[in-house]
Amino acid sequence: MTDPALDAGTTRERAVASLVTARDRTTLLTSCVDGPDLTAQHSPLMSPLVWDLAHIGNQEEQWLLRAVAGQEALRPEIDSIYDAFEHPRAERPRLPLLPPEEARRYAAEVRARALDVLDGAAFTGRRLTEAGFAFGMIAQHEQQHDETMLITHQLRRGPQALTAPDPEPVPLFTGPSEVLVPGGPFTMGTSAEPWALDNERPAHRREVAAFRIDTTPVTNGAYQAFIEDGGYDDPRWWTAEGWAHVRRTGLTAPLFWQRDGRQWLRRRFGVTEVVPPDEPVLHVCWYEADAYARWAGRRLPTEAEWEKAARHDPAGDRSTRYPWGDAEPGPEHANLGQRHLRPAPAGSYPAGASPLGVHQLIGDVWEWTASDFLPYPGFRAFPYREYSEVFFGPEHKVLRGGSFAVDPVACRGTFRNWDLPVRRQIFSGFRTARSVEGA
Ligand code: AVJ
Ligand code: FE
Repeated sequence: MTDPALDAGTTRERAVASLVTARDRTTLLTSCVDGPDLTAQHSPLMSPLVWDLAHIGNQEEQWLLRAVAGQEALRPEIDSIYDAFEHPRAERPRLPLLPPEEARRYAAEVRARALDVLDGAAFTGRRLTEAGFAFGMIAQHEQQHDETMLITHQLRRGPQALTAPDPEPVPLFTGPSEVLVPGGPFTMGTSAEPWALDNERPAHRREVAAFRIDTTPVTNGAYQAFIEDGGYDDPRWWTAEGWAHVRRTGLTAPLFWQRDGRQWLRRRFGVTEVVPPDEPVLHVCWYEADAYARWAGRRLPTEAEWEKAARHDPAGDRSTRYPWGDAEPGPEHANLGQRHLRPAPAGSYPAGASPLGVHQLIGDVWEWTASDFLPYPGFRAFPYREYSEVFFGPEHKVLRGGSFAVDPVACRGTFRNWDLPVRRQIFSGFRTARSVEGA
């Protein structure tokens, strides 16, 4: 495994590249629409884009300029406006936000100073900057908001503002529908990955009984069979809470879908199109994923099962960084980084499959797991409780693997995402699993 901590020059280069890549994406997402679109609230679930933009700058200022370099606040009066805990998303349009030009200038000024700090930074002797951690954390934070902003673009009504090429077409997937993951312990989480966030730590052994898991995420075509079979009208498939939610909200299909005679259409970044049957299903909530799995005679994988399927190398009793090994994700491995604005068809990226033949664990769609978001044994909040610790508990479910909207810097075999079980504006899908009798 390559260890960037060994070489300060490599760490610095990776940090600069990650920050620059994130800012290029932020710039694209905030320059492809005009001023009113940046300050508007496109959904009560989301912030105005101009809030994300200045929040990105403010978070960078707090960690790289103040915490790392000990600088004075550039604009102390704006901290509270961009504190995600002080103001829920629905209220943010009514805050005295920096207008678009000012927000851009502020983020650019912070960035210029942060690159100076990075230039002179040492990567040993202090936990916050060890192996470039704070810089990696801030690049990941910006990329997470770039995914959030892409969700805002998807919710936005009006003409198309973003385009990207489609993934390469692939032959229909004809491999086995599931694989057996043998029982036994494996190493979950990491203590070695330099930019892993607090909730991914520490590495620890987990016993996982033998189970079978889908080789690809559940497709739109498979999900349509659940709909056509009356899945949304049958309480047998739903948990009590899920059934109450479906009744209350009247869900009948994934978000952004509408029926058109005998076929389904969906709205995707301002364009309405026929739902492609062989693409992983997108924009389902945890309750829908869980109900589909029960209808199919299966269940969602636990978080530990998901990670074992993604990282356990049966040849070496070792956990790899990614399903394909330890190499950084390339375009041949996974659909990441908003290179495409949709998932790739099931069976894409054979070079990214795990040794057991599980495809598309990384990229395409975030995968709901059966598990609540809980700390690993030995967890310590770092560097702030509000990243993970305040969200631990049964109200949030874990999602794994990243989507087409996540940059590689914020996606790896150990990376943990979480959300409420009702959320479906996120780029969420799932795959199913089943226990092995007698295991
Ligand atoms: C890890 C995606 C749940 O967006 O709420 C961004 C990431 N934390 N700013 C979120 C995050 C602080 C977080 N998720
Ligand atoms: Fe944030």
